[in-house]
Amino acid sequence: MLKQIAPGATLGILGSGQLGRMFAIEARRLGYGVHVFSPDQNTPTGAVADREWSAAYDDFDALDEFARSVDVVTLEFENISTEALNRIEKKTPVRPGSKVLEVAQNRLREKSAMQSFGLPTAPFAAIDSLETLKSKLNEFGGKGILKTASWGYDGKGQQMVTSDDDLASVWESYADAETILEGFVDFTRELSILGIRDANGNFDCFDPIVNVHANHILDVSLAGPGLFESKTIQAARDIVRTVMESLDAVGVLCVELFQTSTGDLLINEIAPRPHNSAHLTIDAHYCCQFAQQVRAICNLPLGSTKLRQPAAMANLLGDLWPATGEPNWSKVLAVPEIKLHLYGKKEAKPGRKMGHLTALAESVDTAETFVRNARQSLLL
Ligand SMILES: Nc1ncnc2c1ncn2[C@@H]1O[C@H](COP(=O)(O)OP(=O)(O)O)[C@@H](O)[C@H]1O
Ligand SMILES: [Mg+2]
Repeated sequence: MLKQIAPGATLGILGSGQLGRMFAIEARRLGYGVHVFSPDQNTPTGAVADREWSAAYDDFDALDEFARSVDVVTLEFENISTEALNRIEKKTPVRPGSKVLEVAQNRLREKSAMQSFGLPTAPFAAIDSLETLKSKLNEFGGKGILKTASWGYDGKGQQMVTSDDDLASVWESYADAETILEGFVDFTRELSILGIRDANGNFDCFDPIVNVHANHILDVSLAGPGLFESKTIQAARDIVRTVMESLDAVGVLCVELFQTSTGDLLINEIAPRPHNSAHLTIDAHYCCQFAQQVRAICNLPLGSTKLRQPAAMANLLGDLWPATGEPNWSKVLAVPEIKLHLYGKKEAKPGRKMGHLTALAESVDTAETFVRNARQSLLL
């Protein structure tokens, strides 16, 4: 049994956005200190941390010092080099470790790993020439999504392609990067499942969450009874458990899934950290994903994953911001069912995640209506 890292210790986090911020808030609630490390300054996480380290992720001297100043390191951002993580791991445990990150950073390695664990994914192939693009697209039924293997998020670096497209010109913009083609999955809906695992192997997970995307960015997430058949819930639980155990992942890990018309689940991608779709756990569940991350990396008993009330979450993107000033928050602050979360980002840009709303209600449908109406009211 690994020892507990008890409250009073200092937790380090790599990455300084909203996920780090919400982690830091939960860590502080439990009496931990928090240090954040990223190349930026005056960040959403830095604003609520005890210390903000601003240095490049490959500044090994700074990483050494950071590692010495904390008792355990976790992350909110998966694109940190394995060299940097290995360097930190020499001094301080990193949860999840470099092995997990190596898989999650690259869509080809990720999908191959999932298959090697016996888990279903969308059909995929590595593409290194126009000829392979054409032949694989044919094999996948003439419709697919071309993605850069690394560095993509919120739909960046990806494009739908069909055999009728001018593939030569599409390929030109991908030829310099490692590229993957995925067969287009005609899913009936998207869901995510979040697992929690500590270094002693204790595991739990939330029930799956329904996700609705708009312009390739998560828009609305839903949680509550009746969304899934019990066999789907069990299948999703088995998937996230297999992924975490096979990768020996510690902390919180999200598996994004497609559900097909036959009810089957296919893995889209994994994120070895808290996930936007589970922000509703802050208001709707006994112990939220960020508090679970704190508990898991510190070997504390895991918290209850039980739902208190059906819930819906809507993202607040920078597009909602007026040309000057802030949206009229009094519109949503006046609604008792609505919780407002803002990330303290200085500048609103289209597509940038600035905050989210969660609605709690007697049913998921009502919660969804509340949250969509509340967000819409900000535009009036
Ligand atoms: N193979 C696919 N078939 C159908 N839709 C897809 C496929 N891959 C991605 N998408 C759609 O694009 C969204 C973003 O893709 P994803 O691979 O999750 O990238 P990101 O890292 O940007 O989240 C998915 O949530 C889904 O809606
Ligand atoms: Mg995704």
